[in-house]
Amino acid sequence: MTSNRVGVPRLPHLLGIEGLSPETISGLLDLSETYIDQNRSVAKRRDMLAGRTIINLFFENSTRTRTSFEVAAKRLGADVINMDVATSSVRKGETLLDTAMTLNAMRPDAIVVRHHESGAVNLLAQKVNCAVINAGDGQHEHPTQALLDAVTIRRRRGSLEGLLVAICGDIMHSRVARSNIHLLQIMGARVRVVGPPTLMPTDVHKMGVEVHYSMKTGLKDVDIVMMLRLQTERMQGSFVPSISEYFHFFGLDRVKLQYAKPDALIMHPGPMNRGVEIDSEVADDLDRSVIHEQVEMGVTVRMACLDALIGGNRNQFGAET
Ligand code: CP
Repeated sequence: MTSNRVGVPRLPHLLGIEGLSPETISGLLDLSETYIDQNRSVAKRRDMLAGRTIINLFFENSTRTRTSFEVAAKRLGADVINMDVATSSVRKGETLLDTAMTLNAMRPDAIVVRHHESGAVNLLAQKVNCAVINAGDGQHEHPTQALLDAVTIRRRRGSLEGLLVAICGDIMHSRVARSNIHLLQIMGARVRVVGPPTLMPTDVHKMGVEVHYSMKTGLKDVDIVMMLRLQTERMQGSFVPSISEYFHFFGLDRVKLQYAKPDALIMHPGPMNRGVEIDSEVADDLDRSVIHEQVEMGVTVRMACLDALIGGNRNQFGAET
């Protein structure tokens, strides 16, 4: 595998965290940090992707991921097309593959894809000529979210190694949980998952994580508390008795936060449902909540991923020039 100018091993696509080496992950995190000015504002526009074209193809709603990919690409000088799926020929019955191959024929350098089917992004990557970046596929993976979470933690704690991280809530339907479990374990952190049995994946005991069904034991002495939304759009049937009962047992508030280390960081990938999985008092805690910092790091991580995949001297057909 060749390396690009910043020493990150050259990846043809970014489809998931599973299978990435610690060196590749560290390289992407290091590269992300080079895009942050010393005053912590995101670096101003550079032209290293001038002449490159990136298409955002989102079949599911998004605020953070889609916007930050656009901001990241533009800050690197690329041209960005946001395809509006709702007004596209998808609504006339065009298949995912036909849509992707149509866009591919326009010779973009990268397509950023979010889709409700797990594995859809991997399928596209086998067919198109350009780089494919997974912006979230079903319940499978959301690799750039895990990378931005890792940069956020690393900047606050110095390293991921040896940290104890609790991922809490709807583990079953969460691609964020899956990508974070892979990344944290690859980088030497210990992971607990915390939630009701109805929201645990059936294969949770094969994931190498500690499983807890109560916040009291799950949050005990953790360094990081990562809260997850109930992903009702992926639920068929009822997974929790009621929202108030769910909040009572699993919603993060001041009382439950006391089980964690006194300086534990509070994280959430967004969007938040306040009063369901997290209380406003802790979400907006200026000392411990890093939720806005996660969003800020989302831009720098996506700049790094675009640079690592299509920056330097690679043309839109994937060839070195
Ligand atoms: N965290 C995340 O993926 O947010 P969006 O759905 O707003 O992109």
